[in-house]
Amino acid sequence: MSVKGILLVGGKGTRLMPLTKHTPKPMLEVAGVPFTAHQLAKAKAAGITEIALATSYMADVFQPYFGDGSALGMKIHYAIETEALGTGGAIKNASKVLDLKPGDSVVIFNGDVLSGHDLKAQIDFHKNSKAAVTLFLTEVADARAFGCVPLDAEKNVLAFLEKMENPVTNLINAGCYIFDSSVFELIPSEIVISVERETFPDLLNRGLVVKGFVDLSYWLDIGTPAALITASKDLVMQKLISPATPKNDGFALIANDATLGKSTKISGGSVISKGVFIGDGCEIIGTIIFEGAKIGDNCRIISGIVAPNSKIPANTSTTSEIIGY
Ligand code: GTP
Repeated sequence: MSVKGILLVGGKGTRLMPLTKHTPKPMLEVAGVPFTAHQLAKAKAAGITEIALATSYMADVFQPYFGDGSALGMKIHYAIETEALGTGGAIKNASKVLDLKPGDSVVIFNGDVLSGHDLKAQIDFHKNSKAAVTLFLTEVADARAFGCVPLDAEKNVLAFLEKMENPVTNLINAGCYIFDSSVFELIPSEIVISVERETFPDLLNRGLVVKGFVDLSYWLDIGTPAALITASKDLVMQKLISPATPKNDGFALIANDATLGKSTKISGGSVISKGVFIGDGCEIIGTIIFEGAKIGDNCRIISGIVAPNSKIPANTSTTSEIIGY
């Protein structure tokens, strides 16, 4: 009875365009490494060593980077959808590359959630409750922008409700769910399905036990430019610890071969990637500067993302989220 994983990394990431034009969202660097590296590290820390990446959009960029997973002490499989199958279809497709046995559990991660939740405790809760599915739920101040997930006193999920003006609870699906292996048989093959809108309500209609595991630790959906910047800053400044974050001083993460001009200051959890050149007298705060960018003298950049290989003219002062794209 082992615990395996599926990581959903095949979405288009439209909210992050143009960052996702040439790089899929899960491969964008957050605190100096592709976001997926943080999730693999989280899975491994919870004891998951075999995982399938469910890929579709720009599927061919994952394997060259992560290989068979042995460098991470994991076994990584790749499940490729030639046509995107939606979250439910992707889960079904990826389950086929894992050699699942009755009684196995599979942890499914949305590829764009950064969380500090206690995954080991979620797995234990799932096993002890013998649920078909156990969802990690978090609480938001205003649930109107989300579907909400009401629970009873025994943590049974009562419904999956669509967005509404007066949500009945502030608990929302936080994008990490554990399936008993029997659940995969209930999802049809080769058709587009949403796990949130179709599979989960279907499980309740069938009378299966679906539990909610509530954990209110750090949680962030990195799907927008502002959220991506926040995630990167929070990891560098150690608001959230990820074993995949490269060593740094807690103020900034600066590649060894980056060039910084005289009296240039870098702070606020900024990331300065490989081959970046920054001129004299610049101030860079809470900003991600991607590989090979060149920043002229006396620039002030706050909470931005600077495009790879872009050239930012001297004296630029900006608080834009996306720069040089
Ligand atoms: P937006 O287009 O900006 O909403 O982002 P997205 O494409 O990532 O969609 P969304 O945030 O709804 O997706 C949640 C997670 O599921 C992300 O990790 C996606 O990569 C993943 N995902 C969404 N659709 C698919 C799909 O059709 N196939 C696969 N393999 N993964 C998907």
